[in-house]
Amino acid sequence: MLKTVNPTSTTAWKALEAHFADMKDVQMKDLFDTDKDRADKFSLTFNDIFVDYSKNIINDDTLKLLLDLAKETGVAEGIKSMFAGEHINETEDRAVFHVALRNQSNEPMKVDGEDVMTEVNHVLRQMKEFTEKVTSGEWKGYTGKSITDVVNIGIGGSDLGPYMVTEALKPYKTNVDVHFVSNVDGTHIAETLNGLNPETTMFIIASKTFTTQETMTNANSARDWFLDAAKSENHIMMHFVALSTNEEKVREFGIAPENMFRFWDWVGGRYSLWSAIGLSIACSIGFDNYQEVLKGAHAMDNHFKTADFEENLPVLLAVLGVWYNNFFGAESHALLPYDQYMHRFAAYFQQGDMESNGKNVDRAGEVVDYQTGPIIWGEPGTNGQHAFYQLIHQGTKMIPADFIAPAISQNPIGDHHAKLLSNFFAQTEALMTGKSEETVVAEFKAAGKSDEEIEKLKTFKVFEGNRPTNSILMKKVTPFTLGTLIAMYEHKIFVQGLVWNIFSFDQWGVELGKQLANKILPELENNDKITSHDSSTNQLINKYKEMR
Ligand code: F6P
Repeated sequence: MLKTVNPTSTTAWKALEAHFADMKDVQMKDLFDTDKDRADKFSLTFNDIFVDYSKNIINDDTLKLLLDLAKETGVAEGIKSMFAGEHINETEDRAVFHVALRNQSNEPMKVDGEDVMTEVNHVLRQMKEFTEKVTSGEWKGYTGKSITDVVNIGIGGSDLGPYMVTEALKPYKTNVDVHFVSNVDGTHIAETLNGLNPETTMFIIASKTFTTQETMTNANSARDWFLDAAKSENHIMMHFVALSTNEEKVREFGIAPENMFRFWDWVGGRYSLWSAIGLSIACSIGFDNYQEVLKGAHAMDNHFKTADFEENLPVLLAVLGVWYNNFFGAESHALLPYDQYMHRFAAYFQQGDMESNGKNVDRAGEVVDYQTGPIIWGEPGTNGQHAFYQLIHQGTKMIPADFIAPAISQNPIGDHHAKLLSNFFAQTEALMTGKSEETVVAEFKAAGKSDEEIEKLKTFKVFEGNRPTNSILMKKVTPFTLGTLIAMYEHKIFVQGLVWNIFSFDQWGVELGKQLANKILPELENNDKITSHDSSTNQLINKYKEMR
């Protein structure tokens, strides 16, 4: 059981409120001017990852109080409970044990008294065998040809993680092309299958529950597409595998148990890329590289479990987020990878974070009277710079941002990478230092502008600055480093959920829309006038029927 502590009732929270009054107008650039060691002091290195969190509106006291808050709200106990396999997903009465999936130490890890490692390792071996057969060309389709394309059909956690990692690690690609279909919009599967050959295509149906509407609809369409060519259901076993916890439903679909890769209810959907759900990743980058992703995450798990809070990356990033979210009133947090391959990173953590911490009821079942999870968003640099950075620099909202980049590019062409990183460094510097009216006026004068022109334009050119960022530099985006980075963010989200006294591992908020869609679907199947909803919804349904 996790402790239930209203964070606002803690001594640390009260102290932080008082401290905020002192800090809210403090300028980071002054903090840098008065402390030459600031950058070094507020930075940490973990393996190949360097995190500089000095461009935050914090001083030693801030950090101390934030870490006190983490202590008072039971973060240390929460971490222990997770690694002990306790049922910390209380509303679903489940353990939260994705850390076991990447446990490379072979130490036993128990849920309900049972060591799960035997089963975990068994599935990993099954994945290895399958991946090697597919990528080596040994696995043959119904006409005896090798597999050239793998299509992962899944949604949410059964899509976003594998898709993000596959894209981020494209340079490690095998000769099999992996595609992802998630949206129930028929366009997604139609466009994906267009140009694929059923004889050489393997479908991975990825669904924890094997009941998700989007996935089952796409899976059935894939089956029809395949049978249209293959003609016999006997061929399905050569072209369809399932990743699921639901053996019965997998069988019903027609996939043989030997083509099913299992995982367990203690693996949350958005934490499942480490489980059988990672099969598409393994097919894309090879099993050994996939295992490196697991190893990288395991290294972060050990750090998270053992490092003091003062040096614990997920804990530090979490409390910094709490500082802005709950004291400065920041509503969102941007993830800005300066790496084109990581273009789905923000989208992945949109689910990771928002489905985890988008909760307004605390662990005691009471509606909270403080802010919980932020809106997560972002795009790769430098594209974002030419789109939304204007608002980050000069808008009325504070948007704390994480800048993430590799020092070594996978594509070292000319000076592209130096240019890319010069933008990263410049942006974090500009966001912090801003540009004063004095500088603006001096620049105008140097450019020969008249006093009148200067007076008219100067305020538009001022940058307030003091906008917080974390800078995360890694040597290179390798499977190991990416695994570490993902685990770092996962644990950050968990720590924030602990501080906010919410349950981070359920997602009841996705249910209502699903229920209503199931009610509406049959109403779309006839031409009757619908009157059972509110007048707007009735109108939309009836308009749709008229227009189609
Ligand atoms: O969006 C809700 C959700 O339950 C996610 O948590 C999950 O990742 C996704 O649907 C897919 O679920 P499944 O793997 O069971 O198809």
